[in-house]
Amino acid sequence: MNEVFNLINNRFSLRRYAEQPITEEDLNLILEGAMRAPTAGNMMNYSILVVKDEEKKKKLSVTCDNQPFIAKAPIVLIFLADMERLYNYFQLCEVDKFCQQNGEQFKEPGLANLFLASSDALIAAQNAVITAESLGIGSCYIGDIVENYETHKEMLNLPDRVFPIAMLTLGHFPEDIKRIRRPRFNKQFIVFDEEYRELSSEELKEMYQDLEEKQVPKNSYGANNYGQLLYKRKFGTEFFEEMERSVQLILKHWKGEALR
Ligand SMILES: Cc1cc2nc3c(=O)[nH]c(=O)nc-3n(C[C@H](O)[C@H](O)[C@H](O)COP(=O)(O)O)c2cc1C
Repeated sequence: MNEVFNLINNRFSLRRYAEQPITEEDLNLILEGAMRAPTAGNMMNYSILVVKDEEKKKKLSVTCDNQPFIAKAPIVLIFLADMERLYNYFQLCEVDKFCQQNGEQFKEPGLANLFLASSDALIAAQNAVITAESLGIGSCYIGDIVENYETHKEMLNLPDRVFPIAMLTLGHFPEDIKRIRRPRFNKQFIVFDEEYRELSSEELKEMYQDLEEKQVPKNSYGANNYGQLLYKRKFGTEFFEEMERSVQLILKHWKGEALR
């Protein structure tokens, strides 16, 4: 196999880091790699925050669902879907007046822009992951950055038309780390030819069989199958409720509804 595939195939989320700092040279390469990612219309409607400040990382480790390893990562990157910068430029260019002259209504960024800018930000994040890995630096995504919007907005100086879509912790692999390649579902359940197909009950059971056999017997939630267990662990939790509340609020700000 080629080197790039091997790197992708052996990557795993790293949640414990060596003391070794990340050099500016390596950080710059990671950021360069991120910025070479494909981007809709080559507009780069995302921004990247580089967080090194110990206090900030500590705070993020609490606000992102109490995950202490975040504070121990030498560098944290936050990827923002960003329409603020372009709309500030539009303002500078008097695009609204231009639209008026043409009898058109100037459009504020909506959900389509959010999806495109989020795609951009996430693709850049994954390029950062792969570049870091190629430099011997591990990483872990933190989805909980979408929680506690009010706190993150203030702490990170986020304008309304900026959506914190992903966070990455970065650090060198500790010497004693055991490499782990976490299992994935079988391709037959994930990849379909030509068109979407709903899985049958038998296929769904087969898809989750390993997880059911490994995790259901020892669960403490009283769940009788893996579906019940997964729901209880993720979807029916307080952190998921907070995530939903926070994302609804970010959307309000994004669409300018918070100002009205
Ligand atoms: C969008 C997203 C959010 C994630 N959020 C977290 C998180 O908050 N905390 C964490 O420890 N891992 C998080 N992860 C890492 C996943 O748990 C991990 O990718 C998954 O278990 C598969 O393991 P692997 O990356 O080692 O193959 C996240 C991954 C993604 C893609």
